Amino acid sequence: MPIANVNGTELNYRDAGTGNKDVLLLLHAFPLNSGMWQRQIAALEGRWRIVAPDYRGLGQSTPRGEASTMQVLAEDVRALLAHLRVERAAVAGLSMGGYLSFELYRQIPGFFRGLALCDTKAAADTDEGKAGREKFAKTALEKGLGWVADEMVPKLLRPDPDPAVVKEVRDLIRRGTPAGVAAAQRGMAQRPDSTPTLAKITCPTLVIVGEEDSLTPPAESEKMAKAVKGAKLVKLKKAGHLANLEATEGFNRALQTFLDGLPA
Ligand code: MLT
Repeated sequence: MPIANVNGTELNYRDAGTGNKDVLLLLHAFPLNSGMWQRQIAALEGRWRIVAPDYRGLGQSTPRGEASTMQVLAEDVRALLAHLRVERAAVAGLSMGGYLSFELYRQIPGFFRGLALCDTKAAADTDEGKAGREKFAKTALEKGLGWVADEMVPKLLRPDPDPAVVKEVRDLIRRGTPAGVAAAQRGMAQRPDSTPTLAKITCPTLVIVGEEDSLTPPAESEKMAKAVKGAKLVKLKKAGHLANLEATEGFNRALQTFLDGLPA
């Protein structure tokens, strides 16, 4: 994977389908990395150039700082996009990638050709949620990535997951660092409420959710789809939070149809 030295850190990223001029930016979930998008990249790289970073401290990117706030991660992504000379793109973010998409939209709305909000939500954390993230961060630093995988996998997948997908997700989690996981939790705890952002989104928007998503349940997606003007909602059967991995065919079809329909 290529590395870019940007914004005071080293970011690993995927850059697939480089001959194409239409760009799709893929923003991953916590505590994973750009490897979670491999099936989407395989399906779309014939038509799209796909840029997918590993956030600092996750995947192969170096950990930096105590808290990976959405502002810091948005600066990283913007610096990477400048480095790659990408000025406009369709953006798809899953869960934490959705939180980051909201921050990017607030900063650079004109960058967005379209937005796919996947298994995510607009609301900020409750005080209880923030305290839970701090506890998670401390325990991750103490116990390491095996513990992180044990904690997260049941939440990320449907109740009766495919063992091959369980293995894939555990392997993705193990590619990060405890420091990066802790910083991501602390950063997500600080994210603002993005509900007011929803009404300001003017680019074409797709909302996708797994019907069995327990982390960001379908009700959250229904709210987002109602609040964004003209947004389309797709619910996928037999999928939990990582709908792109558990209902790959339906997810890819929905994303591809959405991307094909985007105005130039
Ligand atoms: C994610 O999938 O990115 C996270 O689980 C989201 C969260 O912790 O809020």
